[in-house]
Amino acid sequence: MIALTGASGQLGQLVIKALLDEGVKANEIVAIARSTDKLSDYEKQGVQVRFGDYEKPDTLDKALAGVDKLLLISASEVGKRLPQHKNVIEAVKRSSVKHLTYTSILHADKSPLGLAKEHVETEQLINELNIATTILRNGWYSENYTMGLPNIIEHSTVIGCAGDGKLSTAAREDYALAAAKVLTSEGHSGKVYELAGDEAFTLSEFAEVVGKEFEREIKYQNLSEVEFKSALMQAGLPEGFAQLLADSEKGASNGGLFDNQRQLSKLIRRPTTTISKSIRDFKESYQS
Ligand SMILES: NC(=O)c1ccc[n+]([C@@H]2O[C@H](COP(=O)([O-])OP(=O)(O)OC[C@H]3O[C@@H](n4cnc5c(N)ncnc54)[C@H](OP(=O)(O)O)[C@@H]3O)[C@@H](O)[C@H]2O)c1
Repeated sequence: MIALTGASGQLGQLVIKALLDEGVKANEIVAIARSTDKLSDYEKQGVQVRFGDYEKPDTLDKALAGVDKLLLISASEVGKRLPQHKNVIEAVKRSSVKHLTYTSILHADKSPLGLAKEHVETEQLINELNIATTILRNGWYSENYTMGLPNIIEHSTVIGCAGDGKLSTAAREDYALAAAKVLTSEGHSGKVYELAGDEAFTLSEFAEVVGKEFEREIKYQNLSEVEFKSALMQAGLPEGFAQLLADSEKGASNGGLFDNQRQLSKLIRRPTTTISKSIRDFKESYQS
């Protein structure tokens, strides 16, 4: 049986879909989440939906019963993730799991992004396990940028602090398919994959593509890290989250979100989704 944590999240739900598309039987998939209600459609299709909270080890033991392969999708509360991941890894040690796959961050070991620390520490814990392991070092989601499109269109401006840093983003769907491929095929034990989009763009180029898709002039305004953080806070983001985003973009200005190895498209056996396509997809879903 193949299980995944974070199954109720945006990436997790796409992984379930990709596993089904890859031919895994619904009753061979164990979807672990706190918000199990978000998985009712998959439950109706026969997917086993089990409650699991990273903060409650006994729920993890129950959730992992009979599982052979586990995808640990990194948790979402920055600062709490290491102890939460540790709880899952300890539960794995007590379970039937023979292969653990983890979603890390691009170039975790040399990333300038503050977000990388918890991922590096989690990878270290995983490396100490005596079972097969695979690390999926996921790059940035294209959706991190397309979700800001309503604001960008309103102000005809993309703001950020990534300077001329190149961003090798890919759609969540691409990363989900990569996870499904690793979970359903052989030869991934001990591997660390650096997963990123085939094409990279600067935020000025992103502004240009948005302008083309929406048929209007969109400019890029590069701010300092401090200015960008305060602009995000003015837009309503909590300070901690604004700081994380500003730090990540600063890291991107130093190449932290760039990669040209094309390991993602090799794994999924098709090109990654272009940023233009992601913009069009957002446009369609927003207008409908
Ligand atoms: N590469 C990128 O650009 C990028 C961007 C943002 C985040 N990330 C990372 O990638 C992960 C997946 O992305 P996503 O877009 O799917 O995020 P998401 O939609 O926010 O989903 C997060 C998932 O984590 C689960 N979770 C959080 N705390 C938990 C806990 N205490 N116990 C059990 N489950 C818990 C949530 O479950 P419930 O719904 O049940 O609470 C949810 O399923 C994120 O969690 C984050 O680590 C990557």
